[in-house]
Amino acid sequence: PTRVLTGITTSGTPHLGNYVGAIRPAVAASRTPNVESFYFLADYHALIKVQDPARVQRSTLEIAATWLACGLEPDKVWFYRQSDVPEVQELTWFLTCVAGKGLLNRAHAYKAAVDKNREAGEDDDAGVSAGLFMYPVLMAADILLFNANQVPVGRDQIQHIEMARDFGQRFNHLYGEHFAMPEAVIDENVATLPGLDGRKMSKSYDNTIPLFAPRETLKKLIYSIVTDSRAPGEAKDADTSNVFQLYQAFASNEETAAMRRAFADGIAWGDAKQALFERIDREISPLREKYDALIAQPAHIEAILRDGARRLRERYARPTLDALRSAVGLRDLS
Ligand code: TYM
Repeated sequence: PTRVLTGITTSGTPHLGNYVGAIRPAVAASRTPNVESFYFLADYHALIKVQDPARVQRSTLEIAATWLACGLEPDKVWFYRQSDVPEVQELTWFLTCVAGKGLLNRAHAYKAAVDKNREAGEDDDAGVSAGLFMYPVLMAADILLFNANQVPVGRDQIQHIEMARDFGQRFNHLYGEHFAMPEAVIDENVATLPGLDGRKMSKSYDNTIPLFAPRETLKKLIYSIVTDSRAPGEAKDADTSNVFQLYQAFASNEETAAMRRAFADGIAWGDAKQALFERIDREISPLREKYDALIAQPAHIEAILRDGARRLRERYARPTLDALRSAVGLRDLS
């Protein structure tokens, strides 16, 4: 079977970008025949940005409840918390020892931090943790540990998957064919979902629309999306509009084509936003109800996560690490 794997960092409340970029395509993939899916909560990754334990725990619960509300079936897929599978860390070290430092210097997140420091006249690495620098190696371990073939993600993660291939290839070259080469799977209708201000929707820009915001909040947030000042009746440019891009990420091709015509015909921004709100709410409402019920049962969710990780370690993670330990010349612990 094809192995599909993806993770979400437990650093905040899941938003529409996470949903359309990763959760929706991943749940759909998990229902196709001949697919084995691996979906996890990336809490080791969260520690890079969040040093607030309560926030990591809250986010873990929220993201787990989100996956389940969106239709993930924990008895049909591998569903787990990253830190419940410590083999990920062991593999991270093996990959660290073959990862090129020069390649890591070019990772987007690290480079962005360096650029910001330069602009402020600081040392390149001021305030940059080794964790941020190593981020792509940890992510490669997530992917390679389970020999994932396909990784459904938003566009911002493509570089990380290319790096995972690079580290995996080097390891294979040195120690034999242990790892499959993963590929990013990107939904072209979505690519990068814009946030309220038009930049990429992101926890770090504080411009997100929470996936399960109450209905009234959802409406308020959608009405606060930044637009140009064209008046009702004036033609509007769909291709540069955040409202249109968000609409496209949720609507069918026919609905999108009709909205494109409405833009050309000068739809008022208020009407376009109302249509966007209705379209999103139609899809999210039934999921929100499930979410609200799930989030009230943290013990139930915790039991699902622990059971998933326990079975996954026994079935794949531990045997794989034992083989890798032997491959690199360490003692097999089994
Ligand atoms: P994270 O937590 O930032 O985002 C989770 C997923 O949501 C996608 N995404 C978006 N897609 C479209 N438009 C947006 N505005 C948007 N914002 C976020 C992301 O592309 C991602 O797919 N490093 C990862 C987590 C991770 C992972 C992995 C992913 C850790 N290990 C292994 C895949 C495989 C991250 O921080 O995603």
